[in-house]
Amino acid sequence: MSKTKQSHILVTGGAGYIGTHTCVELLEQGYELVVVDNLSNSCEYALDRVDKAAGRGVTYIWADVTDFHAMDSVMESFNIEAVVHFAALKSVGESVVNPLAYYENNVAGTISVLRAMAKNNIKKFIFSSSATVYDPKGKMPLKENSPLGPINPYGQTKLMTEKILHDLYASDPTWNITILRYFNPAGAHKSGLIGEDPNDTPNNLVPIITRVAGGRMEEMTVFGKDYPTHDGTGVRDYIHIVDLANGHVAALKKMTEPGVHIFNLGTGKGYSVLDVIKAFEKASSKKIPYKTVGRRKGDAAESYADPSKAKEQLAWQTKFGIEEMCSTAWQWQKKNPLGFKRPQ
Ligand code: NAD
Ligand code: WQD
Repeated sequence: MSKTKQSHILVTGGAGYIGTHTCVELLEQGYELVVVDNLSNSCEYALDRVDKAAGRGVTYIWADVTDFHAMDSVMESFNIEAVVHFAALKSVGESVVNPLAYYENNVAGTISVLRAMAKNNIKKFIFSSSATVYDPKGKMPLKENSPLGPINPYGQTKLMTEKILHDLYASDPTWNITILRYFNPAGAHKSGLIGEDPNDTPNNLVPIITRVAGGRMEEMTVFGKDYPTHDGTGVRDYIHIVDLANGHVAALKKMTEPGVHIFNLGTGKGYSVLDVIKAFEKASSKKIPYKTVGRRKGDAAESYADPSKAKEQLAWQTKFGIEEMCSTAWQWQKKNPLGFKRPQ
């Protein structure tokens, strides 16, 4: 098969939560996209919705990123300018129970993508890292050079991959690598067409609150009420998913200098669990029943970013606050009570 002439961005994991929202923003900016996803935590229908939200679609190829030959074949068939690499497993708890699956998918999967890129002389790479690479006892706000020290296998896969990327650049300084450390993504696209829809029971706060408000869960659990925070519950830096998606657009546009560039993507503001529950109650006009239990193992009292490096160097900043995160998450839930599942 001869290569397409048109330049494309390859988006791995593009059918997932952050992937679909980023595809919409990239399509709106005129990029042509090839999405590779094995649908282990998503469905192909999500990409039909991307098409609807953006007014045009992506080329979708089912493949597993751990399959070097499949990745090589995609890169041989399309003229790929850069790779945005979302594909990974992301449940902290599951990574403790099944670490090998996490190292295989997240570390070996990334190596397979990078090897295929090197073979096809593609050197622009954006990597989905996480605030979880930081030492949870670190001083707030977290800066890109704050101490690192993940405390679970999921976080280790992200830090290990970051180290691999530094070594890769040291071996070949023509690589242009951007590492984006996301804080806590939340919310949905304003169209109500795409949103967070994990295949299993969610572990993260906002999708859990959303399910309780929508009646899919009876009540929720607040983990810990004795943290040294303004109301005793854990504080996080929630970032609207569309702001996060636009962070990728900004990063892609700034990929002019080879190197390894690391950016926090967060708002710089922290909200407690009870702040988020209250904001969601306001946005949905629903009561969120909850019970408070002890702290969840491994949770930090607070985690929020210093996003000033991304603001200065990527000319990117967040536009939306907790109100929009809750209102769009609620709109997504109301319009899609069973997520992406088609009505029976
Ligand atoms: P998601 O599970 O919704 O999306 C990941 C996508 O990758 C899914 O569509 C899944 O089917 C696909 N995938 C997984 N393994 C694959 C494989 N081996 N081959 C091909 N496709 C595969 O998760 P998300 O929230 O969109 O996260 C995207 C990225 O951002 C991940 O790398 C995740 O670790 C990272 N991240 C997420 C968060 C968060 O809270 N959502 C925070 C920080 C970092
Ligand atoms: C947020 C706050 C909980 C659920 C995790 C990963 C991180 C990143 C984002 C991928 C905490 C509290 C939660 C519940 C609660 N993912 N909570 N009841 O733990 O900050 O980060 O997801 O990279 O790597 O570690 O997010 O949404 O799970 O928790 O009280 O049922 O909500 O204790 O204070 P977290 P979260």
